[in-house]
Amino acid sequence: MAMFPTKVKILHRLLQSRHPFWSCPSLGGAPCSRLVLGIETSCDDTGAAVLDETGEILGESLHSQKEVHLRSGGIIPTVARQLHRENIERVVQEALERSDTDPSRLSAVATTVKPGLGLSLGVGLEFSQRFVRQHNLPFIPIHHMEAHALTVRMLQPVAFPFLVLLVSGGHSLLAVARGVDDFLLLGHTLDEAPGDTLDKVARRLSLIKHPQCSTLSGGQAIELLAKDGDRMRFPFRTPMGQTYDCCFSFAGLRNQVNMLIMKKEAEEGIEQGTLLSCVNDIAAAAQHTVASHLAKRTHRAILFSKAIGLLPSSSPTLVLSGGVASNQYIRKALTLITDATGLRLLCPPAKFCTDNGVMIAWNGVERLREGKGILPPDVDVSYEPKAQLGVDMTAEVKAAAIRLPSVRMKIPN
Ligand code: KG4
Ligand code: ZN
Repeated sequence: MAMFPTKVKILHRLLQSRHPFWSCPSLGGAPCSRLVLGIETSCDDTGAAVLDETGEILGESLHSQKEVHLRSGGIIPTVARQLHRENIERVVQEALERSDTDPSRLSAVATTVKPGLGLSLGVGLEFSQRFVRQHNLPFIPIHHMEAHALTVRMLQPVAFPFLVLLVSGGHSLLAVARGVDDFLLLGHTLDEAPGDTLDKVARRLSLIKHPQCSTLSGGQAIELLAKDGDRMRFPFRTPMGQTYDCCFSFAGLRNQVNMLIMKKEAEEGIEQGTLLSCVNDIAAAAQHTVASHLAKRTHRAILFSKAIGLLPSSSPTLVLSGGVASNQYIRKALTLITDATGLRLLCPPAKFCTDNGVMIAWNGVERLREGKGILPPDVDVSYEPKAQLGVDMTAEVKAAAIRLPSVRMKIPN
């Protein structure tokens, strides 16, 4: 019987895999690697993927609610829940079909249960618990931020420990990843996340009316317009200049930007909701301030980690991930810092920086390999909208009060 190319590929890979095998009934008793189905519904993306133990993506599916939320000017949790409900069955089915995987061949189901929007998390969790009970599969509850932090290890070998900066629409944090379930939190946002700030600035500037930006997220729109803007024309204050820790704050910057927008609207004699002539310059200045703030806090986290021996002396690594990490200007700002401190900077490609089922499945694989956090199907699990990442070290970072040597934030455009 002729074999499908995908099956040949899978078999070939399994025979070369370094991971433990056991018999796989659907391939006629041939050895096979364990497969994990990952499910993500923590915010506005319904994602599912099937991965094998080597991190190969056998099949995936993603339904984004971005357009709906763009039109309504932000995520309305009840709308997000409804859209997850409408799509989850299809998305999971697609991931299984594309990977040519019957549920009986899965070794576990991994699902985001924290942190995130409660109503959204609930849909994924309810679906998953029904699914694992129906197919008698182990269940692996996943912390969304741990999954973001470890995705890079699916793409290339990155040994623990490493420093990670996660920046998205819902989060902003710096942590040392020491193991699959071992994180030290060095800094987090005190108010809003940078993606949220950029989204709100974009909305206040009505960028959805801009011909080049109508389908872009706020952060993408700001990055695009900033390319043709003068970041020096409206210098904003970088937040928390007098606080010597690694926490973030973006609400004050948004305030500065809003004041400027009001002033410019008055000068140009236009109403709120009309595009200003200087949107590019405002976008460039806002993006530059976000990039400088992220870079400075990360610089301090690197110095702190080095000072108390949290990072290896050979090839210390900073991983940058989350939706905002796809911003090239922010990547360049962080490159200035990693170059100055001797770290290597790793950023997963944009597709793996944003929310998807793949990162959740990968975290399931990592946990399955180490036998950590794997539950029988009948255990009741609750979702947690708020969940800290790892052990909180922010007080120690603050007490160290590390002053930064000056690094010129001359970020190439
Ligand atoms: O990780 P993500 O897909 O979802 C969560 O927030 O968890 O990140 C989405 C966020 C949005 O706020 C979006 O504006 C921002 O990431 N974003 C960007 C860029 N692309 C997406 N921010 C700045 N520059 C970008 N190129
Ligand atoms: Zn995320």
